[in-house]
Amino acid sequence: MATQIWAHRGASSKAPENTMEAFEQAVREGADGIELDVHLSADGIPVVIHDSTLERVSGEIGLVHDRTLAQLKRLDVSNPIPGYGIARIPALAEVYELINPTGLIINVEVKSGLTTYPAFEQTLIALERQMGMRGRVFYSSFNPYTLMGLREQDPQAQIGFLYIGGWIDAQQFALRLAANALHPPVYALEEPGFTEDCKRYGIALHTWAVEDERDLLFARRKGVQAVITDRPAYTRELYEKTPLHPVV
Ligand code: G3P
Ligand code: CA
Repeated sequence: MATQIWAHRGASSKAPENTMEAFEQAVREGADGIELDVHLSADGIPVVIHDSTLERVSGEIGLVHDRTLAQLKRLDVSNPIPGYGIARIPALAEVYELINPTGLIINVEVKSGLTTYPAFEQTLIALERQMGMRGRVFYSSFNPYTLMGLREQDPQAQIGFLYIGGWIDAQQFALRLAANALHPPVYALEEPGFTEDCKRYGIALHTWAVEDERDLLFARRKGVQAVITDRPAYTRELYEKTPLHPVV
């Protein structure tokens, strides 16, 4: 199967990350999926933003979790693309509405490391069901307890263990979590036998921070199921013009 292209925080090289504009751009660029980050607002609504704090994207000091959805909606989160114009924090439900008719996959990265949110996993699974998104959502998290919580809530949920740096016996850890996938950084694919072991165990690979030509082509040659990239259009063009040679 062809390597899928998932837009990291949406098409975040062209529009402010994790906004409707970035997701719409990803759809226009022919991405197969989008990756996004979720936290919970003060009124318990899953909201799409990367950091647990507001400053980097909006210039406001404060925590996402201390504001209601209505309060978060007043912020302009266009800082990452200076001069872009106003962009707002979407509720996850709004993104589901946008993506549902497109057939794209949504990789929901659950940001539960620095802040712990009550009933986060339960809320996410309930929303997925309520919005008719079952089978279209792929959850990932750096926090294995969150993945365990999702698995407990829904034995059918698609989950991937996300990590950075190195991880010893990542495949065994994925199996222990009953995870469907690993989300390793692209350099992890260089470890001898790594991709072969994933294939043997039936563990999908969705690799991230894949931005330059070398890494994009390397990941595809390694047979990963998806690359997570800020530049879906560039990746699509590169894949279309470059013949696929398997790794020898
Ligand atoms: O899911 C892959 C990647 O998004 C993880 O890192 O910091 O961009 O959320 P970060
Ligand atoms: Ca992310």
